[in-house]
Amino acid sequence: MVNGTQTKCPPVPQRVVTERLIIRPSARSDAPYLRRWWNDPTVMGPGGNMDGMQYDDADMEDWFRRYSDGQDYATHFVICRRDPGETPIGEFYIAYDDRPGCVGFALVIGEKDLWGQGFGREALRGYAAALFASNCCGAMRMDIRRDNVRAIRLCESVGFEVEHIWANGQFQTMILTQDAFERLEDSRSAGETG
Ligand SMILES: CC(C)(COP(=O)(O)OP(=O)(O)OC[C@H]1O[C@@H](n2cnc3c(N)ncnc32)[C@H](O)[C@@H]1OP(=O)(O)O)[C@@H](O)C(=O)NCCC(=O)NCCS
Repeated sequence: MVNGTQTKCPPVPQRVVTERLIIRPSARSDAPYLRRWWNDPTVMGPGGNMDGMQYDDADMEDWFRRYSDGQDYATHFVICRRDPGETPIGEFYIAYDDRPGCVGFALVIGEKDLWGQGFGREALRGYAAALFASNCCGAMRMDIRRDNVRAIRLCESVGFEVEHIWANGQFQTMILTQDAFERLEDSRSAGETG
């Protein structure tokens, strides 16, 4: 804590299982997947890393040391298929946000052949449900390039709203409050039962 402000992420849910997916903390054995996804300009370009990260082995090791080792609880997760091998298909992180009651979030479905099949939405919706049920925070924020139509539609479909358009006009911050999420989930269940 600095001046009474929380400077670390709250303890977020560590394992979430949805219809087709298992979300679990990332491990060093995931490095080949993460490196392939992060180095791919097609995967990272829509988020703003136009050339991909181009990490080598040393960069990956450094990443695990900085963001994974020695943490009390994970804040970086791998999204796996619920198949016998629990095959990794994507990843996301939860980040500290200095605005009280909020966390930051960014998501990648690294297996680009699987884009458009609802996996991004299933992961985000499943994790948001677990996060809000855990009462560790009341809102999630995501910074998205305004030309990233797929990501914006994904966010809107889960209940995110535009909070702020950046001065350069290229990015927007989107926010998902627990209220907005639960309202949308309730109207979905009413639609299913009604
Ligand atoms: C953005 C991303 C996570 C979405 O995951 P996904 O599994 O492809 O998305 P879904 O299949 O769940 O679809 C989500 C929405 O995008 C829409 N969509 C799918 N393909 C689309 C396309 N080519 N163009 C526009 N919208 C598209 C879907 O129809 C759905 O919207 P709807 O509910 O209005 O129908 C994934 O494409 C990705 O990893 N992209 C690269 C990294 C990135 O941009 N990350 C987000 C910023 S941090």
